[in-house]
Amino acid sequence: MESAAKLNLTRSMELIKEGRETTPGGMLGIRRPYNFVEGEYPIFIEKGYGGHIVDVDGNDYIDMLCSYGPIILGYVEDEINQAVIKRMEDGFCFSLVQEIQNELQQKLIDLIPCAEMAVIAKTGSDVTTMAIRVARGYTGKNKILRCGYHGWHDWCVEHKGGVPESISGLTEEFKYGDLEDLRMKLEASKDEIACIIITPVGHPTAKEVIAPPKGYLEGVRALANDYGVVLIFDEIRTGFRVAMGGAGERYGVKPDLATFGKAMANGFPISALVGKKEVMKVMEKDVFISSTFFPNSLEMAASLKCIEIMQRENVIESIWQRGGEFLESLQKIKEKNNAPITVSGIPPMPFITFDKVDELYKERRTEFYTQAIRRGLFIQPYHHWYICHRHTDADLVYALKAIDESLMYVMDKYPVH
Ligand SMILES: Cc1ncc(COP(=O)(O)O)c(C=O)c1O
Repeated sequence: MESAAKLNLTRSMELIKEGRETTPGGMLGIRRPYNFVEGEYPIFIEKGYGGHIVDVDGNDYIDMLCSYGPIILGYVEDEINQAVIKRMEDGFCFSLVQEIQNELQQKLIDLIPCAEMAVIAKTGSDVTTMAIRVARGYTGKNKILRCGYHGWHDWCVEHKGGVPESISGLTEEFKYGDLEDLRMKLEASKDEIACIIITPVGHPTAKEVIAPPKGYLEGVRALANDYGVVLIFDEIRTGFRVAMGGAGERYGVKPDLATFGKAMANGFPISALVGKKEVMKVMEKDVFISSTFFPNSLEMAASLKCIEIMQRENVIESIWQRGGEFLESLQKIKEKNNAPITVSGIPPMPFITFDKVDELYKERRTEFYTQAIRRGLFIQPYHHWYICHRHTDADLVYALKAIDESLMYVMDKYPVH
């Protein structure tokens, strides 16, 4: 198997140089080049269409990172754009709220099994942090048990620079899928814990995606009840993707609170905290939450239209079916190439990870992603992938072919001895 030709990334390289002069690192966090393969991946994007993106050098890719999750339909949805333009023409930022806010709240209550009330915000971190404050306000306790990535705020960020120990010290991590670990941590800080916050589908960074083991989420629910703590499902990735009502709906377990964002409006910045009335009502008086932009309604129009399209076009069902076939094909490609990889995930969120069978696993990973991007497939080495509605069958077939060829190349170059 031949190596694919290196891409021309001249403009991306010029722009990152420029960007580093105007913002720390050229950009923030997970979009920085070291999260991909440096020198091989594009850095600046010009546009998107359907399930594709085009970089500033004109290279076209099938995008299976989907903007890290928000793109559930595809890039540039005309119907959503029209709904947003209509709202823009009447104004969308006022000193008071608009009727559309009630409409979206009601829609969330109709769709999400645990939702008796809803609060609309803008980002995932807004609502995970809101959930924590609500849980603390409701229980009068301070400690948090968390499992998964929940955003960039002080209580949950993994990089401790700039975070007071007095805040980060109140949060403890538990291991996904291990009920005994959670039980021990609850027991150890009995009477101090406000809440458990968990991504209902496990997705530790750079590791495999874990579908909830049988009985696990039910077990977490039971432990939360036993210890009298608030249970929060962080559905920022799984909401409107694993089911309209999130993993809570698909796996049949009701948390007390749940957070939604990302896919809720196909890329427009909006998020929601939903949950039990009894708990949410602490925001009526004791717990203060307010932000200038939370009531801006452009994103609400986008979200309602996105939800309408998803229901009309049976998006969830279609993604599960096509994603299921995609995962099966990944498994076959692994076997055919006898590759030391783990295929993991659930149909809407597939992933492969390179097993540590010897000291070459990192080289295999780097070479695999190099070959994939050169073949026009945009996937991430340290984050699972997504399937969106506008990925055509031909896109998915092409993606599998690129993965197969890339793996073949890797196994020629770095065989396992
Ligand atoms: C599960 C989960 N929770 C919370 C967040 C934070 O969301 P945001 O980046 O919109 O603040 C993310 C973002 O990736 C996420 O994946």
